[in-house]
Amino acid sequence: MKTIIIYCSKYGYTEACVKSIADKLDGDASFVNICNEKIPHIDEFDNIIIGGSIYMGQIQKKIKLYCSENMEMLLTKRLALFLCCGLPENFMKYVKTAFPEELLTKAVAKECFGGELRTGKMNLTDKMITGLMKKAADKEGKSEPMPIPGNIKKLAEIINSQRK
Ligand SMILES: Cc1cc2nc3c(=O)[nH]c(=O)nc-3n(C[C@H](O)[C@H](O)[C@H](O)COP(=O)(O)O)c2cc1C
Repeated sequence: MKTIIIYCSKYGYTEACVKSIADKLDGDASFVNICNEKIPHIDEFDNIIIGGSIYMGQIQKKIKLYCSENMEMLLTKRLALFLCCGLPENFMKYVKTAFPEELLTKAVAKECFGGELRTGKMNLTDKMITGLMKKAADKEGKSEPMPIPGNIKKLAEIINSQRK
C-alpha cells in the first residue's frame, strides 16, 4: 500500500501532524508540502491524504487549487481529508469551504486535528491577530487551540483498515 500526504503548513503544526500520520500508516508513506515543494506525480499511489491549516476561516489557496485542478484523478483514488484549526467546533463549516463537494463525498475519512498557536515563529501581523483571538477566547471562557491526537490516530486506522 502506497500513500502520499499532500499538505500546507505555515508554522509547522500541520507538518507535525502529517509526520505523525505517516508514522502510523502501514506500507510506504511519503509527504509533500505543496506550498513550498514541487508537486509530485501521484499515479503510483493507492491512497491520497490532503490537508492544511485554517487562517481567517480559509485553508491555504494552493490546497484549494490542487484539489480543483486534479479533481478527476483524485476521484479515482482512496482519499482522506483533514484540517488543522484552532476552533474545532467550526470544523464542519471550514471543511465545506476548504474542499469541493465531490471530494468530501468521495473521502473515506474527514478529520479535525485541532491546532497550536506557535507564536515564537510568527510574523508580526499573525502575532497581533493571535493576541486578539486569545483575548476574544478568554472573554468567552474558551481554551487555547489544542492538538487532537486521537483524530490523527483515527484517520491512520481508517486508511489501514481499507488496505487492498
Ligand atoms: C493569523 C491566524 C489566523 C487564524 N485563523 C483561524 C481561524 O479562522 N479559525 C481557526 O479555527 N483557527 C485559526 N487559526 C489557528 C490555526 O489554524 C492553528 O494555529 C493551526 O495549528 C496552524 O497550523 P500551521 O502551524 O500548520 O500553519 C489562526 C491562526 C493564526 C496565527
